[in-house]
Amino acid sequence: MAEKSFKYIILGGGVSAGYAAKEFASQGVKPGELAVISKEAVAPYERPALSKGYLFPEGAARLPGFHCCVGSGGEKLLPESYKQKGIELILRTEIVKADLAAKSLVSAAGDVFKYETLIIATGSTVLRLTDFGVKGADSKNILYLREIDDADKVVEAIQAKKGGKAVVVGGGYIGLELSAALRINNFDVTMVFPEPWCMPRLFTADIAAFYETYYTNKGVKIIKGTVASGFTAHPNGEVNEVQLKDGRSLEADIVIVGVGAKPLTALFKGQVEEDKGGIKTDAFFKTSVPDVYAVGDVATFPLKMYGDMRRVEHVDHSRKSAEQAVKAIKAAEGGGAVEEYDYLPFFYSRSFDLSWQFYGDNVGDSVLFGDSNPSNPKPRFGAYWVQDGKVVGAFMEGGSGDENKALAKVAKARPAAESLDDLTKEGISFAAKI
Ligand code: FDA
Ligand code: NAD
Repeated sequence: MAEKSFKYIILGGGVSAGYAAKEFASQGVKPGELAVISKEAVAPYERPALSKGYLFPEGAARLPGFHCCVGSGGEKLLPESYKQKGIELILRTEIVKADLAAKSLVSAAGDVFKYETLIIATGSTVLRLTDFGVKGADSKNILYLREIDDADKVVEAIQAKKGGKAVVVGGGYIGLELSAALRINNFDVTMVFPEPWCMPRLFTADIAAFYETYYTNKGVKIIKGTVASGFTAHPNGEVNEVQLKDGRSLEADIVIVGVGAKPLTALFKGQVEEDKGGIKTDAFFKTSVPDVYAVGDVATFPLKMYGDMRRVEHVDHSRKSAEQAVKAIKAAEGGGAVEEYDYLPFFYSRSFDLSWQFYGDNVGDSVLFGDSNPSNPKPRFGAYWVQDGKVVGAFMEGGSGDENKALAKVAKARPAAESLDDLTKEGISFAAKI
């Protein structure tokens, strides 16, 4: 069994890892100082592509087209770029044991990796229906989507079951993006989720009503208020039917499940302080253990503008937290410091011809503005959230670049709002004048 030592190890090979590597490279690392260890077989890539361009029936996105850091307009780190920059990219290597006191990691093959500084960037994994004991949930063609291997299985199933029936379990990000992707691939799609409207952790009932009608107009059937309670399969093991808790059943050639994710923190249980399900960090992504940082989906960090601790499962934060951690590490080595992380939450999604962005916090009362008629060819509408008389969150479907910048500004500035009626009337021009 090999033992290797590095000054810095980034554990994980996803979005945060890619952006952390880019930041190390731009500050300069000596050959052999930095390793990126990933259980995936490919170099870090922009994960959001997997539920969008990767599934297009024509002109689909493929690697190396979306390696990090193209998503933020940065340099694309091709697999060979790591070596050129003196970074050791260790792929297909799952770490199964971490000893933070001994500063060592052990892989499934038994190799030992020693470090001086560790950045934990293990991200999240999907919740599985088998974890909840749903009968038949291990049938073939019941698929999840997290990594590129999963996306390849989805592509394979789409090709094998062309024009068939698909059931999408879950009404969140994966549910909405995958229902659209399957519909674009000509599947007969039914979405099932337990809540009264889709994407309840962000959308208000009004916002959701737009997307649900738009999806229905595109031919997606939506079943709300129930869950998949069991599956039956053909004799060859492939799923053929989904049973719902409300007694209905649906034929299915493919089932896509998107019922949430959980941060991958198990390796460090009992060794590091946790908070809100993630690894607790300070504003520099330093954990409670010296020389150990945590970034991206796994980090529960102080969200300065709201004065509380948050965990964010979105790509913008995974990029920025990684950059912040590396900047903090490098600055500390030179005896300096960087500013505290002052993050403005930013989420987005794209499906069909739709594209929305959200900035800030979705708390308090909300108002809709603009044209939210789903039958219009170019819908363009938005929403504000108002708490204690201040606008704290802003959302827009179909906004231009300038309008989206205005949303960000308003969510950051948190200006006072005279009344909800005025906000509805003023619409995006309220944000534009901030
Ligand atoms: P990420 O999951 O990217 O990377 C974790 C890495 O660690 C993986 O390479 C994994 O294999 C590796 N790893 C884990 N445990 C390991 C171990 N023990 N040993 C070795 N390697 C290990 N967000 C958004 O804002 N807009 C969007 O449109 C989308 N779209 C989207 C689509 C899909 C399909 C998914 C799954 C997610 C999104 N997201 C998103 C969310 C966004 O992609 C996510 O928040 C970031 O990828 C998180 O980055 P991390 O680096 O923290 O984890
Ligand atoms: P999610 O939390 O967005 O949505 C999960 C949905 O499944 C919720 O509507 C939930 O109520 C529903 N659900 C829970 N149990 C269910 C059950 N038994 N049957 C049916 N529905 C059930 O999670 P997700 O969509 O699975 O996404 C996984 C991860 O990927 C998240 O971290 C998410 O942020 C990330 N992601 C983000 C984007 C984006 O930002 N555009 C896109 C894709 C994925």
